[in-house]
Amino acid sequence: MQQPVRIAPSLLSADLARLGEEIRAIDRAGCDYIHIDVMDGHFVPNLTLGPPAIARMKPHSAKPFDVHLMIRPVDPLLAAFVEAGSDIVTVHVEAATRVHRTLRAIKEAGLRAGVSLNPRTPAGAVAHVMDLVDLVLVMSVNPGFGGQDFIEDTPRKIAELRAMIDGSGRAIDLEVDGGITPETARRAVEAGADVLVAGTAVFKDGPAGYAANIAALRG
Ligand code: DX5
Ligand code: ZN
Repeated sequence: MQQPVRIAPSLLSADLARLGEEIRAIDRAGCDYIHIDVMDGHFVPNLTLGPPAIARMKPHSAKPFDVHLMIRPVDPLLAAFVEAGSDIVTVHVEAATRVHRTLRAIKEAGLRAGVSLNPRTPAGAVAHVMDLVDLVLVMSVNPGFGGQDFIEDTPRKIAELRAMIDGSGRAIDLEVDGGITPETARRAVEAGADVLVAGTAVFKDGPAGYAANIAALRG
């Protein structure tokens, strides 16, 4: 069942020199999750931050840390992301060699497990893990950078995944990430998404705009 819309600002678009303040500001502005993009310069062509930075950010908000791992391999670093204070850990189905085993390890650590799909990966690629995941993350841009345009075909895939989630009978978040604006947010939610990741659309005007920007995405 589709749940009320939740907003997960992507820290990639925050002022990276002032991350603690930025996290407190989006928390006060009413976000639901704190979305952290972890990139390795290998699975995706960009580098961001890792477990030590997450551990230092954690005390700045009690809201769930939604950690999106764009790294390969995943398994050797999993324990460090658990230790750092992640609440949700999402791995790419394209990056995990044995995704079922990786997701089970996340669950066994007591965290929520997510699986993500790149724009070219069909919805069916995650059918075999629906009994295990708490979140499915649909990429609506090619991962690596903020500020890209929403890929037009995404709502069709969201609708397919919505049907798979409802068929599972489990409460699984359906999150969409990339190019989210108030307009694309509306289309994603109509198709069945219930968590919206947004970098540019939340952080664009500086802290004074965060609350209004988050509210605008809820529709
Ligand atoms: C892209 C990241 C996204 C991105 C979103 O690889 O996963 O979270 O930063 O940024 P916007 O909302 O600017 O597209
Ligand atoms: Zn992301």
